Amino acid sequence: MSETLHVPEGASRAEIYAALLPQIEAVMAGVDDLIANLANVAAILKEAFGFHWVGFYRATAPDMLTLGPFQGPLACVTIPFGKGVCGAAASGRQTVIVPDVDAFPGHIACSALSKSEIVVPLVAGGETKLVLDIDSDRTDDFSQIDRAWLERIVDLIAVQHFPR
Ligand code: SME
Repeated sequence: MSETLHVPEGASRAEIYAALLPQIEAVMAGVDDLIANLANVAAILKEAFGFHWVGFYRATAPDMLTLGPFQGPLACVTIPFGKGVCGAAASGRQTVIVPDVDAFPGHIACSALSKSEIVVPLVAGGETKLVLDIDSDRTDDFSQIDRAWLERIVDLIAVQHFPR
């Protein structure tokens, strides 16, 4: 696998995701280490889209998320299930899209530049194992297109690291 990411120029966001998916599969192929794979997925999404913050929180204790590999500014280390956008996605076991973080009750503001957010949980055996969190510095930056493709990316991680 080449270590240069190919991101099609002038492409739509959906076309970029479509180009990234096989590259993510190739990067993760044969890599057993979860942290290494999360680090590369965060790097790929950050490089391809330039989002303000891209990273993972892992469920490390019952009902607690702990910061994992990420790209972007310093972030808070622990988030209880049910708190903030990450905690809402973790406890609800469903993707949460927040078009305007200032309008989301309980949003945890790690960075004042974050305006909208999407959080995709990885659920295996009925439990949230980790979440993918992406913050944008633009309001209303995430749609069902992001949800669909990011859920596919999280599913690649699930298949490899949390097989049923
Ligand atoms: N805003 C998140 C906290 C994590 S940071 O965005 C990196 C939340 O409300 O859960």
